[in-house]
Amino acid sequence: MTSMTILGIESSCDDTAAAVLRGQAGAAKVLSSVVMGQTALHADFGGVVPEIAARAHAEKLDLCVTQALGEAGISLDQIDAVAVTAGPGLIGGVVSGVMCAKGIALARNLPLYGVNHLAGHALTPRLTDGVQFPYLMLLVSGGHCQFLIVSGPDDFQRLGGTIDDAPGEAFDKVARLIALPQPGGPSIEQRAKDGDPKRFRLPRPLLDRAGCDMSFSGLKTAVLRQRDSLIVDGTLGMQDQADLAAGFQAAVVDVLSEKTRRALALYAPLTTNRSICVAGGVAANMAIRDRLKSVASEFAAQFVAPPLGLCTDNAAMIAYAALEQMGTRAPDGMGLSARPRWPLDKTAPAMLGSGKKGAKA
Ligand code: KG4
Ligand code: ZN
Repeated sequence: MTSMTILGIESSCDDTAAAVLRGQAGAAKVLSSVVMGQTALHADFGGVVPEIAARAHAEKLDLCVTQALGEAGISLDQIDAVAVTAGPGLIGGVVSGVMCAKGIALARNLPLYGVNHLAGHALTPRLTDGVQFPYLMLLVSGGHCQFLIVSGPDDFQRLGGTIDDAPGEAFDKVARLIALPQPGGPSIEQRAKDGDPKRFRLPRPLLDRAGCDMSFSGLKTAVLRQRDSLIVDGTLGMQDQADLAAGFQAAVVDVLSEKTRRALALYAPLTTNRSICVAGGVAANMAIRDRLKSVASEFAAQFVAPPLGLCTDNAAMIAYAALEQMGTRAPDGMGLSARPRWPLDKTAPAMLGSGKKGAKA
């Protein structure tokens, strides 16, 4: 396969993103990756408002594409293909991106590829670290939580996932409960350093059930009850806050690491060249990373965590997924439509659950 230059576009949630990537599957370089967040627009509402997100994407997309081309130092004439997130996600945002990508592809007569957002996350370790198939992937963010065995550019086996909240969503909600700032992940991680993780008996949901499914909403409720028993005159003491943060984080670490151990046990027989990869904002948490690293070593698997900018939502991963899939399928063309739900593993049962980021696939 010859080297290709691909423009990627992502707008499925609350980040408008565009990127330019050059190379081939297994050996590509990110020439630019621009991400324009919308956090301030949604701050007053306690979550992402789909209509506001869609409008903001429509306003920012061409600016974002122009900036990505500029930072890469190339013009549209040098682009060989356009890749866009076609789902899953908030439908208004996905439609905005698909329309933008169609306009560019039509005007320049370029092949257009619709990419599954989760495939973008799941294939990122090949872009950043050249990881070989098959590998085990744990996606943990504010909107996603699942284990996948990735055996090819469009070959994903889902081993399990959350049945309610995503872990990042739980970090954010718990931070709100114990009066720590948003985003909750980094502030809980910081506060937990001064806390005693063993002071409160918090649950480890679903560890008593076989398999790799997870649950985080009961843990959040347990923190709420504990907090209510500690509040005096409407305030939570500093030590109580730190102990709750530490206790909650320790519970998440225990659940993620034990479920990862089970996922690794299912994956290990497939190859001796083993890798477990993580992606998503929660993968930034050092307590989680450290524990996952040690679980990986139990199975002689290498632990791969892409740099944060490529772990969280971005368009370089969308361009890269298209690059991988080009070898195995035809472009989508103008018939491409947006899909709010689009499971990666067509054979796995549908998972219900919706969080701050809206419907999850
Ligand atoms: O992947 P991401 O940037 O966005 C989406 O979910 O789309 O993930 C954001 C989530 C937030 O819920 C945030 O609280 C969480 O990742 N997060 C963390 C940490 N840094 C970010 N959670 C735990 N520990 C962290 N250090
Ligand atoms: Zn994502």
